[in-house]
Amino acid sequence: MKRNFLTIAFSLLVVSSFGQNAQEFVNDLLSKMTLDEKIGQLNQYNGDWEATGKITPEGDKEKQIKEGHVGSMLNVMGVDKTRKLEEIALQSRLHIPLIFGKDVIHGFRTTFPIPLGEVASWDLALIEKSAHIAATEAAAYGIHWTFAPMVDIARDPRWGRVMEGAGEDTYLGCMVAKARVKGFQGEGLGHVDAVMACAKHFAAYGAAVGGRDYNSVDMSLRQLNETYLPPFKAAVDAGVATLMNSFNDINGIPATGNRYILREKLKTEWGFKGFVVSDWGSIGEMISHGYAKDGYDAALKAITAGSDMDMESRCYRDYLKQLVSDGKVPIAFIDEAVKRILLKKYELGLFSDPYRFCNEGREKQQTNNQENRMLAREIGEKSIVLLKNEPFNGKPQLPLSKQTKTIAFIGPFVKATVANHGFWAIAFPDDSLRIISQFDGIKNQLDKNSTLLYAKGCNINDNDQSGFAEAIDAAKQSDVAILSLGEGYDMSGEAKSRSNLQFPGVQEALLKAVCATGKPVILLINAGRPLIFNWASDNVPTIVYTWWLGTEAGNSIADVLFGNYNPSGKLPISFPRSEGQIPVYYNYYNTGRPAKNDDDKFYVSAYIDLQNSPKYAFGYGLSYTSFHIGNLQLSSGKLAMKGGKLNVTVDVKNSGNYDGEEVVQLYVRDLVGCVVRPVRELKGFQKIFLKKGETQTVNFCLTPDDLKFYDNDLQYINEAGDYEVFVGNSSLAELKGHFELTE
Ligand code: GLC
Repeated sequence: MKRNFLTIAFSLLVVSSFGQNAQEFVNDLLSKMTLDEKIGQLNQYNGDWEATGKITPEGDKEKQIKEGHVGSMLNVMGVDKTRKLEEIALQSRLHIPLIFGKDVIHGFRTTFPIPLGEVASWDLALIEKSAHIAATEAAAYGIHWTFAPMVDIARDPRWGRVMEGAGEDTYLGCMVAKARVKGFQGEGLGHVDAVMACAKHFAAYGAAVGGRDYNSVDMSLRQLNETYLPPFKAAVDAGVATLMNSFNDINGIPATGNRYILREKLKTEWGFKGFVVSDWGSIGEMISHGYAKDGYDAALKAITAGSDMDMESRCYRDYLKQLVSDGKVPIAFIDEAVKRILLKKYELGLFSDPYRFCNEGREKQQTNNQENRMLAREIGEKSIVLLKNEPFNGKPQLPLSKQTKTIAFIGPFVKATVANHGFWAIAFPDDSLRIISQFDGIKNQLDKNSTLLYAKGCNINDNDQSGFAEAIDAAKQSDVAILSLGEGYDMSGEAKSRSNLQFPGVQEALLKAVCATGKPVILLINAGRPLIFNWASDNVPTIVYTWWLGTEAGNSIADVLFGNYNPSGKLPISFPRSEGQIPVYYNYYNTGRPAKNDDDKFYVSAYIDLQNSPKYAFGYGLSYTSFHIGNLQLSSGKLAMKGGKLNVTVDVKNSGNYDGEEVVQLYVRDLVGCVVRPVRELKGFQKIFLKKGETQTVNFCLTPDDLKFYDNDLQYINEAGDYEVFVGNSSLAELKGHFELTE
């Protein structure tokens, strides 16, 4: 009876809105709202599924929803739960539906590689597809909004959230931001296989001092605009529905209350029409920052700066009404925020059908979608980075024969299941039953007459060496030992900064002990960030970086180790040799005393106790085959600033014995600028497939826009002058050309 009444009441509301466009509908609805109802739309509570922040005990949330004092919920999952809360919301005076948000970061029911790992595929189409699958699955579970993509540029692997983004490079970060927004939002809001995306964390969260999560950020506005803001702009240009601000202060002002980034940049200069949600409690945290005196002051500073929705701090709920009546906050600020939110609810189609995402049939269909698992397996293969594959006993160990008589599979991750999901995965009760372990992945493909031995060897992070003997014994019985080592999956992610990036516990000791048997060793490294493993790099001939690959991890790894797929991954972030070297990144400034090479220490910018270069470079990754990139040609020696185009071509030959993919990368260097310029910057890449022996010409087109940068007056300019262009298969590319950018 109640639901029928509600349906009629709601339908009357919808009918009365016939003929109105979105803005008219929203303006009309806003005109009917009380101040309490308006403030209610700005208030977001956590559900009871899980907590992704510190929980504040709250009274009856359902009562508050019914009274129209809640606009959104996060961490509510399942059409039964979202329908129930939506029904309650529709009992409010104006029947305004809730929006449900969740961190759908790298998959939902099907988990894909962690975002940093997925970016190592450099396959934008796949990255977009992965986001779209995640959106389809999440929407089937009643979710309207994902708090993703995380687009924070990160050059400091001590910061645990480096696993969530696209690495160190702004150009790659922009391309991935666009791909992920398009993937999540699909054919547009309102489609039941699309969700609102949320570019986060605005802004410069990845530049936290010391790589310590939530720590301060201090940089020039030029650096902020040049390096950290562009991926957000790319997301906005791709139509991202929302942004989430970050916890950190930027140059002394918390992002949550930072007018410069929120109102001046985002809402004015970029013309952003969506809405900004605070990160968990970040409005109230401005008190702890020492930027707000109390909740009243925090609410004032956040709404004035342009934060629209308050996640879990309750400052808006508790103080905005008083701020308006005290004349401190013009109602126009409230109205602007409310309209932005209502507009998105309209675009999602929730006013015409608030239950459009509550479809049990779709939820069931998306619960174990085998096609999605196959895609996860494919992306997993393509995310794997082959770091070393040097001859041992005269030949490279990989690809491994499926007829290898005996393989010893050793390490604390070999039989792990949930760990393969990495941080920010959505937990389901049956995860351990449906995730393919690394052991099972190998077992599934190894010849039935072969033997796969297993020894855990050690734990992830303690000093217990009692498992070494069993591991050594297994290795001695084997033809090849595969070691699966690394950091725990919960040692990267939010609030997971590490000061020491080595293998935790006694893992390296285990590796040395197994290597001492003289057996060939293949090392798999599981991590959410670059780790430091110098002994392994210098002593183990075969190293494969497997990140955390998701639900199909074991199969993806086996596909690469056995050569079903020839690895093509490239590092999206530089790997340091030491924590003392951080930050190390490829697009650095040359300085007045650049070291000529890693041995040059004489009055140059260098360490006396370490090389300057990273252990593994941005863009680096090997293949089972070899590619030769040559015959660099430029269509001209000059590029006119007004409308010019410069074609850069190279010939790429697959000169090895396996078909495979190569990521051909183009970098430029501005030799002289009105401000110093990086020694090289990625400005293009293409991932191509070549059969063995095949040659392909790859063409890049450079335009003046590709060469713009921020000058000291924060003007985004082109500047005539000499440029170098480099093309290769990593940021170490040596194939070089020259051109002049002319007025
Ligand atoms: C967390 C994270 C943010 C996430 C939010 C909601 O603290 O910082 O990325 O989207 O809370 O879970």
